[in-house]
Amino acid sequence: MDMFTAIKERRSCRNFLPEPVSDEIIEKILEAAIWAPSPANNQPWEFIVITNGDIKKKIHEESTACKKTLFEKSGWKWIDRYQMGFLVEAPVIIAVIGDSEKTGAHKFLPGTEGTYQHGCAAAIQNMLLSAHAMGLGSLWFTLFEKDAVRKTLNLDPAKDPVALVCLGKAGTASPPPPRKDAKEKTTFMR
Ligand SMILES: Cc1cc2nc3c(=O)[nH]c(=O)nc-3n(C[C@H](O)[C@H](O)[C@H](O)COP(=O)(O)O)c2cc1C
Repeated sequence: MDMFTAIKERRSCRNFLPEPVSDEIIEKILEAAIWAPSPANNQPWEFIVITNGDIKKKIHEESTACKKTLFEKSGWKWIDRYQMGFLVEAPVIIAVIGDSEKTGAHKFLPGTEGTYQHGCAAAIQNMLLSAHAMGLGSLWFTLFEKDAVRKTLNLDPAKDPVALVCLGKAGTASPPPPRKDAKEKTTFMR
């Protein structure tokens, strides 16, 4: 698949079919992840591949609690309607774990901490695009309490669960959410 087609056609999937994803495909997605750029090539990521149903259920429970808190605090009506059954239905969830110690030069530059998250974000986008290129749906998911996920996945406090990437064969597709034109978002300083 052409790169621009993959970029434009990739969509967030919240509706997965119960078909397993082969180890070979998971390995390819992880291979795409590790070729992402990172600050000083510090590769601040680790991955946990979750197919265990009990762990997926636990994540779903914790995210449901997180959603409730968010609804109470924000009053956003859409969040009350938002269903997260995909956390259980997705055949695979890959947790992308950032290492907050991997800051490199940014440790010495106040206000620029947290660049390990940028590296993880680049890895995540590679995962989503490679999954799409291989015919899989994916979702970049962040609606969770970090400490709850740390506990469920047995992580040290310095490890940051940056995102959960849900993967699987997509069910019904939703229309692409619109984008503002690039021109509206761009200033040229010539
Ligand atoms: C950092 C980040 C966090 C996101 N968190 C969630 C999430 O918790 N739940 C969810 O359903 N979608 C989440 N998304 C997906 C966005 O909602 C989605 O990318 C956006 O609506 C545009 O739709 P598209 O991906 O289909 O183009 C997240 C995306 C990003 C980049």
